Amino acid sequence: MRILISGGTVVSATGTQAADVLVEDERVLALAQPGSEAARRFSEGARQIDASGKFVVPGAVDVHTHMELPFGGTHASDSFETGTQAAAWGGTTTIVDFAVQKKGQALREGLDAWHKRAEGNCAVDYGFHMIVSDVNDQSMKEMGALVDEGVSSFKLFMAYPGVFYSTDGEILRAMQEARNSGATIMMHAENGIAIDLLVAQALARGETTPRFHGLTRPDRLEAEATARAIALAEVAGAPVYIVHLSTTGALEAVGEARAAGHNAFAETCPQYLFLTSDDLARPGFEGAKYVCSPPLRAKEHQARLWRGLRNDDLSVVSTDHCPFCFKEQKELGREDFSKIPNGVPGVEHRLDLTYQGVLAGQLSLPRWVEVNSTTPARMFGLYPKKGVLAPGSDADVVVYDPTARQTISVMTHHMNVDYSAYEGMALTGRVATVLSRGRVIVEDGHFRGEKGHGRYLSRGKNGYLQ
Ligand code: URP
Ligand code: ZN
Ligand code: ZN
Repeated sequence: MRILISGGTVVSATGTQAADVLVEDERVLALAQPGSEAARRFSEGARQIDASGKFVVPGAVDVHTHMELPFGGTHASDSFETGTQAAAWGGTTTIVDFAVQKKGQALREGLDAWHKRAEGNCAVDYGFHMIVSDVNDQSMKEMGALVDEGVSSFKLFMAYPGVFYSTDGEILRAMQEARNSGATIMMHAENGIAIDLLVAQALARGETTPRFHGLTRPDRLEAEATARAIALAEVAGAPVYIVHLSTTGALEAVGEARAAGHNAFAETCPQYLFLTSDDLARPGFEGAKYVCSPPLRAKEHQARLWRGLRNDDLSVVSTDHCPFCFKEQKELGREDFSKIPNGVPGVEHRLDLTYQGVLAGQLSLPRWVEVNSTTPARMFGLYPKKGVLAPGSDADVVVYDPTARQTISVMTHHMNVDYSAYEGMALTGRVATVLSRGRVIVEDGHFRGEKGHGRYLSRGKNGYLQ
């Protein structure tokens, strides 16, 4: 099977060029001069996709999703089937989801459970990180074996005492193990012990509405935890990747560590670039739609986050896609904000939302590709199979229409959730065509993929480490 994507502007992390993309079976065969003899010869018998006036970019890689995550007595509302279809609509052709080790469980048990959920259901390729909730002799022994079979990153939590939380000693121990096995530790950096006290005090005062979710998780407690996580990683001699970074203070801690030469990395998410604490304070119970952790912050933080994306203190944009329906799930916290399941939906909109940053002059086109595709692939051991259009790479390709207009809405999105956090937001730019391993899965406003097309990805180690 041959496909020629012709006439477009190919955008990579390093620049833009007019080029035709030659796809054979599941791989990119070559990039060729438009109209060149090579492209002409290849086109005979090939299917043609006209990309004139459009960008041709590597499929986006979302390294932070939570399909079906159990949280607060319920489950994230997207299954691997619905969530990966929504991802495909938005140009994301790879997800890395978080398998969960519950307390008392072996890592293996948690990982097997996630394989069962995903296998045969995904529309795009997928890998797993592992959430470690129980740092003990057995789980530490298991880490190395998991790295060898392609689960090379482990998330620990300084938040959520009694659920996912690890003490500083446990975190240090896991980091030492990561150093030995070549794993990357991902950190949810919020001071959960202090936050739980603030939450209990707020509830005792009768402060129960969603906006208190934000007020009880102050940005200082994210900055403090981020600095502490980095300090622990330095002591262990291990890399650390701060997930869903939302504040200026936390970004400064990452920037300082990076300037000093430490292997500290961080991601942010569209919700922190586009939504604010005002959304959390919407009247009635509306704010529940915006409850996630870390919480949405004051608008002042956003300009610094965009700058961090430009100067690489923030290397990745991921979604932290964790949808809960407003009617039946967010409702669990109507009388008590601490019972609102944490998370916002977003797997479908990352490329489109961050493209608004390109239009606003916040990101260059190559940087847009880099933070959404190339760097996440390299950071999590998927490069150059994913994250780049080069000979031999998987033919995960997005043809992006930079002039199309769209308005985000629950009426038109494909995520299995009954609201959109970006309802009514008017955007310029839209995904036109998506290929996953050489197969067209989205075109002309139709989903042409299928459940089970997505394959499990055994990942290598962090490509930014020696
Ligand atoms: O609110 C969030 N972020 N929910 C998902 C779980 C996590 O901490 O990433
Ligand atoms: Zn987290
Ligand atoms: Zn998350």
